[in-house]
Amino acid sequence: MGKNIVLIGFMGTGKSSIGFRLAQRLRITFIDMDKEIEKITGMTVAEIFKRHGEVRFRSEEILLARKLSQSRDLVIATGGGVVLQEENITNLRQNGLVICLDAEPQDILRRVKRKAGLRPLLRKKNRVEDIEQMLAEREKYYTCADYRFNTSDKGLDDVVQEILRVVQDKI
Ligand code: S3P
Repeated sequence: MGKNIVLIGFMGTGKSSIGFRLAQRLRITFIDMDKEIEKITGMTVAEIFKRHGEVRFRSEEILLARKLSQSRDLVIATGGGVVLQEENITNLRQNGLVICLDAEPQDILRRVKRKAGLRPLLRKKNRVEDIEQMLAEREKYYTCADYRFNTSDKGLDDVVQEILRVVQDKI
């Protein structure tokens, strides 16, 4: 039985797509925290924010991170804001290797635009300066990672390969 791989990082850095492929390659289970919260609550993330506010979403994240910290052999794609609550990091680190995915602000903007509407926190932020500002505010939280990988200008499988090379003997 091995450690979990926990992917953190800003919105649009590829946590879900890379996490899914990484889990396939390692033949372990993939958990997408946003999707899991949607299953648990019966609402989309956007609906939770709209009807009940960010605080409710953050408390669902806390409960789920507590639960996941009891499991093993998972690849977990977190939501970009999971790091804002210290308890989550403590819990997810407990039996997990934390990997932060990074991307250039222009790439983040391009990627999130494709799925506009899914990310309530970016609803009114559609300039690269907005992304740069949020990234700067959050940088201090993302430094808790054991490893960081930049996903700009790379194919998903190339990033997966890079991650596998580094983590294979550590989980
Ligand atoms: C959030 C990121 C989203 C989602 C929610 C809040 C954030 O996840 O959890 O909209 O605070 O950065 P993704 O990083 O998967 O987009």
